[in-house]
Amino acid sequence: MVVNLSSEQITLRQPDDWHVHLRDGEILESIVGYTARVFRRAIIMPNLIPPIKSVGAAIKYRQRILDAIPSGLPFTPLMTAYLTDDFSPDVLKKGHQTGVFTAAKLYPANSTTNSSNGVSDISSIGSLFETMEEIGMPLLIHGEVTDSDVDIFDREEVFIDRHLEPILNRFPSLRVVLEHITTKQAVQFVENNSSTLAATITPHHLHINRNAMFDGGIRSDFYCLPVAKREQHRLALRRAATSGRKCFFLGTDSAPHLRNFKENSCGCAGIFNAPYALESYVEVFEQEAALDQLEAFTSENGPSFYGLPLNEGSVTLIKRTQVVPEAFNLKGKTDSYSSITPFHAGESLKWSILLKENNRRA
Ligand code: DOR
Ligand code: ZN
Repeated sequence: MVVNLSSEQITLRQPDDWHVHLRDGEILESIVGYTARVFRRAIIMPNLIPPIKSVGAAIKYRQRILDAIPSGLPFTPLMTAYLTDDFSPDVLKKGHQTGVFTAAKLYPANSTTNSSNGVSDISSIGSLFETMEEIGMPLLIHGEVTDSDVDIFDREEVFIDRHLEPILNRFPSLRVVLEHITTKQAVQFVENNSSTLAATITPHHLHINRNAMFDGGIRSDFYCLPVAKREQHRLALRRAATSGRKCFFLGTDSAPHLRNFKENSCGCAGIFNAPYALESYVEVFEQEAALDQLEAFTSENGPSFYGLPLNEGSVTLIKRTQVVPEAFNLKGKTDSYSSITPFHAGESLKWSILLKENNRRA
């Protein structure tokens, strides 16, 4: 990475997004460009309705993504399988052999948006974990228990004790990503098990704590799952992301919902951060005086975990303030209910993307 302090300019290897929701249909068409104009590759979450459960469905979804990308942006969607109680190990094997499934996602049933078809009994899908361990396919986990008697702010920590630790013990070579971590307990657990375990960290969990959801009223724009926790956890996440440790890497969990599904008595979980995700991360690294660790987090640790080559292109940012728009409209729509509110709406961000040098890799 080149940090040119005199001109306050940063050039870094082109990053990837190791966790993103691109949705489908008109939302996909309206938002995919925000991810593809900055990131070279992304791990695509499979929680569509219906979810991506077969190799054929993943191939078709990948094509819809590629068709929706604005022309001239080289972008590779890396597809994932949505695990269910009755998912067949043979489908994982076929998807892996054909290069369609990069990884598989475990949603505990009813843990988050579109997860009702997820896994209801984790102890019953050992044959899937065994297959993934054998073929070398990473397991991506939404790490929260769903029991109503467990406080929502404790659900990640309880998941680690109750499920993650036993999975790692039983399948010692299985490579696992604990997605969008939110607690100091998760940071510590990942650090202690980093030979096979890694974690993604979102921009929003680095910027906000749980107060953001209740600032002067109920603010669903800051509601996501796992929910943001206390300040001490946000600080632990900042230390982890900026540590340079290989087990932590960029995953935005950008999760757009239309305004009418957020402004609702039962608002959806998810924060749309794709349009300014990189600028948002850079601000955190600068505040932590850790710009020298930025590139490891954005562009090196992820490919290294997934066993993929580093990108060849670069992105240059300049220290120039920009104001984030209040809303993004779906293509061809102007009504406010067809809009999506981005993370940092109305705020000023200190860094702006100046240019991207296209890389040569197809
Ligand atoms: O806040 C979230 N939104 N967390 C998730 O795990 C899913 C996501 C979505 O799909 O909206
Ligand atoms: Zn997600």
